[in-house]
Amino acid sequence: MCGICGFVGTGNIKEILLKDLYQLEYRGYDSSGMAIRNNHKISVFKSVGEISYLDKQLKNIEIGGSCGIAHTRWATHGKATLENCHPHLSNNGKWAIVHNGIIENYLSIKNMLLAKGYKFLSQTDTEVVVNLIQDNDNVSPIRAVISATKKLQGSFALAIMNSERDVIYLAKRTSPLYVAKTSNGYKISSDISTFFGCSNSCFILQDDQYAMVTSKSATFFNQNGEKIKPIECDVKSSSLDNMTIKEPHYMLKEIKDIPMALSSTYRHIMSTIDEDKIRKFCKGIKKVCIIGCGTAYHAGLVGANYLEKVGLHTDCYVASEFRYANHKIDKQTLYIFVSQSGETADTLACAQYVRDKKCKSIAITNVVHSSINKIVNIVFPTTAGKEIAVASTKAYNCQCLAFYILACIMKKIKYQAKCEKLIKDYSIPKFDNSLVSAIKNSEKVFFVGRDWDVVTCNEASLKLKEITYINCMAIAGGELKHGTLALVDDKTLVIVICTREHIADKIANCIHEIKSRRGKVILFTTLDFDFGEVDKIIKLKSYKNDFDPITTIIPLQQLAYYTSVDLGYNPDKPRNLAKSVTVE
Ligand code: AGP
Ligand code: GLU
Repeated sequence: MCGICGFVGTGNIKEILLKDLYQLEYRGYDSSGMAIRNNHKISVFKSVGEISYLDKQLKNIEIGGSCGIAHTRWATHGKATLENCHPHLSNNGKWAIVHNGIIENYLSIKNMLLAKGYKFLSQTDTEVVVNLIQDNDNVSPIRAVISATKKLQGSFALAIMNSERDVIYLAKRTSPLYVAKTSNGYKISSDISTFFGCSNSCFILQDDQYAMVTSKSATFFNQNGEKIKPIECDVKSSSLDNMTIKEPHYMLKEIKDIPMALSSTYRHIMSTIDEDKIRKFCKGIKKVCIIGCGTAYHAGLVGANYLEKVGLHTDCYVASEFRYANHKIDKQTLYIFVSQSGETADTLACAQYVRDKKCKSIAITNVVHSSINKIVNIVFPTTAGKEIAVASTKAYNCQCLAFYILACIMKKIKYQAKCEKLIKDYSIPKFDNSLVSAIKNSEKVFFVGRDWDVVTCNEASLKLKEITYINCMAIAGGELKHGTLALVDDKTLVIVICTREHIADKIANCIHEIKSRRGKVILFTTLDFDFGEVDKIIKLKSYKNDFDPITTIIPLQQLAYYTSVDLGYNPDKPRNLAKSVTVE
């Protein structure tokens, strides 16, 4: 995923780059580094792990200079080691590069360069690019960058420096890249949020566009090296983007934010969405197709339930599967893309595909300036506020609420009173700490439910494995006896979720099956129903079906959080993951 940033201008370059790196850390934290041009040479500083390690390393170092690029890495090619940490230098030390993306043909280029005598210090695909630029360096620098990157296949946002002048060269395909003028120079970044407070507008690079950025100007080019006029957009931060927290982790803060986030999302939709426009737009729609990844996909499954309930035939797909499945794309289907970040590469690629086929699309996203928002017909926003913890919590609850409201709007069903009641009544439950010991004392953990409680099970299971590294799985209650029951024994904890009255007796059967195999059962339910023998019942407040998926997940988000903390992990930054998955 990686985040890249850069600055050329006056000021303390080290501090400017570090501040922006912290903003981009959600994109990866395997390693970070920066390259700064000073006295006609490029100095590179790197550190493995979180940005705070690089920060500490640079604490007492005076760097100077007025042009630099920086990187926070989520490794795709090569382990999280110092050698693989960006920026990478070309063999002659003249060029430095930072990269977000994947170069799919890097091996063939590497072999070609090796044959010419080039040496490689890292296992990354990125180091190949910087040497390919050196290999094309017989024209002007921007032309060298263009001719080298034209040979690349895959995705890239590249910021490149050259030891001869204070200029940052940019190249972009698929991965996002922005440029903004500030009071003391120009900034470049993977994410508009690094411009908050220092710019009101910025330029967006499009695929196969290039830029040359100095302290005084930014010039944009197409693949032929001809100057072009870039697309400009506003830079506005949301009032909910408050970064200072009292809680020990962002994840806990974000769970506590849920009531406020739900209220904000509801009110924002009420005040910005033109319901008649949505209905007019959806006229003639015969089917809905929802596409997302991870937690957003789970929100899509909840959304599919809401849409089916109001009579709209709806399918929901994982974006990476939809992308290569050769589905028939048709004009009578409404495509809904759901994504917290609005940047997830697979979801974005599906949205681009649907746009190219000129079909109708809506985005449910949490980031106003996101790439997905720019290519769909209508944005149906969630305003959960900035979500920093890698494990998505409040965004999920808000995505589910947005789907509920959208389904009601499409079928002209009143939703206001129910939403108002939810917002007024709901408060985050107190967490029962004994649940953590139950998890820790088990060898296996399963989540079992039926109907839309299975979606909650899937989301709860994803949350638990993501931040505690416990191998757990979710299963539909009726499927238990078709295989998974073989794993149930006295070391097994089964977390059962039941909010659906019409199948409570079926869930009771599942519980009997588990208890007969000496499994432990913790039941989360909104119902007053006799489920038979269980080890613990957590009684939840009911919202009479409509909002149960939105509220039932909350104690399970807490369960994942508190278990992670108890095990000594940092739930905000789980290993091997990053907040925003901008590579395929
Ligand atoms: C959830 O906890 C995850 N970290 C992950 O599954 C996430 O929901 C997924 O990567 C999709 O991200 P998006 O909502 O920004 O598209
Ligand atoms: N492929 C590059 C690397 O592994 C960049 C990774 C990314 O953008 O996620 O270093």
